[in-house]
Amino acid sequence: MEDRRFAIRTYGCQMNVHDSEKVASLLEDAGLTAATGEAEADVLVINTCSIRDKAEHQLYSDLGKLRDWKAEKPGRIVGVGGCVAQQVGDRLLSRFDHLDFVFGTHNLRRVPAMLEGALEGRRAAWVGEDKSQARFDLPTRRPELPTGTRRKAFVTVMEGCDMFCSFCIVPSTRGREISRAAIEIEAEVRQLADQGILEITLLGQTVNAYGRHDVRRGNAAGAGTMPFAELLGRLDAIPGIERIRYTSPHPLFYDEALIRAHRELEHLCPHVHLPVQSGSNRILEQMRRRYSRERYFEILEGLRAARPNVAITSDLIVGFPGETESDFELTLDLVRVAGLVDSFSFKYSPRPGTGAAEMGAEVPAEVSQDRLERLQVRQKNQTLAYHESRVGQETLVLIDGPSRRGGHQLAGRDPHLRVVNLDVRSNLPISQDIPVGTLVPVRIVGATPHSLLAEPLDPALRPESGGPENAGSRLKSAARQADETDGVDRVGRAAEDALRVI
Ligand code: 5AD
Ligand code: SF4
Repeated sequence: MEDRRFAIRTYGCQMNVHDSEKVASLLEDAGLTAATGEAEADVLVINTCSIRDKAEHQLYSDLGKLRDWKAEKPGRIVGVGGCVAQQVGDRLLSRFDHLDFVFGTHNLRRVPAMLEGALEGRRAAWVGEDKSQARFDLPTRRPELPTGTRRKAFVTVMEGCDMFCSFCIVPSTRGREISRAAIEIEAEVRQLADQGILEITLLGQTVNAYGRHDVRRGNAAGAGTMPFAELLGRLDAIPGIERIRYTSPHPLFYDEALIRAHRELEHLCPHVHLPVQSGSNRILEQMRRRYSRERYFEILEGLRAARPNVAITSDLIVGFPGETESDFELTLDLVRVAGLVDSFSFKYSPRPGTGAAEMGAEVPAEVSQDRLERLQVRQKNQTLAYHESRVGQETLVLIDGPSRRGGHQLAGRDPHLRVVNLDVRSNLPISQDIPVGTLVPVRIVGATPHSLLAEPLDPALRPESGGPENAGSRLKSAARQADETDGVDRVGRAAEDALRVI
């Protein structure tokens, strides 16, 4: 399979982004190399999302267009993985005759063999369940961190979901909840730290439910798991790891120990993305979320007492079946009372096989649209107010790459996960010398609803001061030199990562 180049198109959540990284590593191990773009690729893998209807339709539209891509060069291969693949399985092969292989969310390791089969003209679909720990043992990185790589990494700690919220398709696309042995997680994080990774994000559909089944059965020791807060404590002690994040926790499993971890653990970031979905207890019950708005506020109160500057973000759904104007107003009110610094909000989308899809009492599309817009206006104003409150503060930015605005600006994230655009010297050769992976101390000087604007504290890096050469060399000495200038990495992820693509 040597000489072949691959590209991966990724939709959906961070778990999908991380799965694409695993597939990329498997393909590299099989001798392929990452293409600089799809035009150059011989193999294209689409990693799909089915959380909402729109995300699923995206795949059908992509596949339609890929007929021409495939015809342009003989021998090209198209594979589809992820949540839609898991759901639709081999029916995708019958519907799209130019599709070569389909792999489910538990079958990443089969990709190289499926590709080999496809090259010999065999089409296949693998969507079986894998309940073993072996699922976690995938090579996710090359031994040497390539230059120009962002120094942050995802680490899977648990997968699957047993919650069955009535709107959500995830339990059927990701399967049952399974936690990875702590010793494996620690070993991976140590290895990442040795490679120069500064920031890790622990991933799981309900990440703070980590180990709960083992703990409840009294079998944590046998399974090698432990309560989530304890796992965080272990990882916090690993030298070299400067920032620890986790996503997404579920309010039901948000316990005192986790709140305490935010008080005690040095490297745990002061940001929690805690999806609430609705501000109405009646709707929360219909959603089968198993907490109340009062409980949600109690968690936030605990977190703020533990870590006064903690930034809270959330996910919200509008137009859930039966949602009235007063239910919706409770969600609007929650945004204010909870002081959400940001949120992702979605119109409810019925998903096949879920409880809510059978409920009836649909909210008309124009009503959902109107609610979504009102919610987003509220959030945008609140996010701007939060950003404005940060002006004048000093913080540390981990640089991701050039800013989307271009010019002499870099972009990164602060500990609160806010996007920070950083003005640097205009003579800095940004296109060749991007100091990806540097932690830069800055002062916040401006705010927009989407980002903060900052200046480096180091006078030599500031826009209008210092000698002409030393700005570049100082940044360079603090960072690995970037050789990647197109802002897109090997799994097709934009340099400034959005939390969600769809
Ligand atoms: N419709 C709309 N939004 C949904 N989400 C999950 N399922 C649906 C659905 N059927 C949202 C939730 C979740 C986020 C990842 O996507 O807010 O937290
Ligand atoms: Fe979906 Fe609920 Fe599980 Fe989250 S907790 S993945 S919303 S079923």
